[in-house]
Amino acid sequence: MRKKELLDVCREDVRKCKRCSLYKSRKNVVFGEGNPETKIVFVGEAPGYNEDVKGIPFCGKAGDVLEILLSSVGLKRGDVYITNIIKCRPPENRDPEEEEIKQCTPYLERQLEIISPSVICCLGRHSLRYFVQRFSLKEYGSISTLHGRVMDAGEGLFSDIKIVAMYHPAVAVYDPGKMDVLKRDFQVLKEI
Ligand code: URA
Repeated sequence: MRKKELLDVCREDVRKCKRCSLYKSRKNVVFGEGNPETKIVFVGEAPGYNEDVKGIPFCGKAGDVLEILLSSVGLKRGDVYITNIIKCRPPENRDPEEEEIKQCTPYLERQLEIISPSVICCLGRHSLRYFVQRFSLKEYGSISTLHGRVMDAGEGLFSDIKIVAMYHPAVAVYDPGKMDVLKRDFQVLKEI
């Protein structure tokens, strides 16, 4: 099967998922979208209101910021793949809980296995924390110290993967002055 078909199978599993209680309040699962053949995957935190309604990741204000950032390095949404750590909206946009992350991330792992990216961009602290633990990265610190940093995922199976820490695009929705920092951080994508 081709990557797109494999992702469609995974998408269908997520659509039926009841592994945590978020299925009760979701309108739609937000599986992910983009180019399955890409080398760059962006992983955000969790769907918000707009994403839940439309079933599309980053389709609200944070998504507008993400598109500006992508175009600042010559990329479009369709060039990359965009998904989240968890696929259903937490009520009131609260932080994802440990158990939700534990139950949901096997789907993210399947997506990454299928796409096999060389670059994983963590959008925000929840995503960064997941990948720091996932790859046992030695870099340790908050998003405010690690943003813009490119890290090697490890050796062996993961030796070709770079992990990039980025602020969540929503920070520029609340504080437009942060756009410059975000744009500067995105420049590292050109270098790698
Ligand atoms: N914030 C996220 O982390 N993901 C989305 O899909 C939308 C907003």
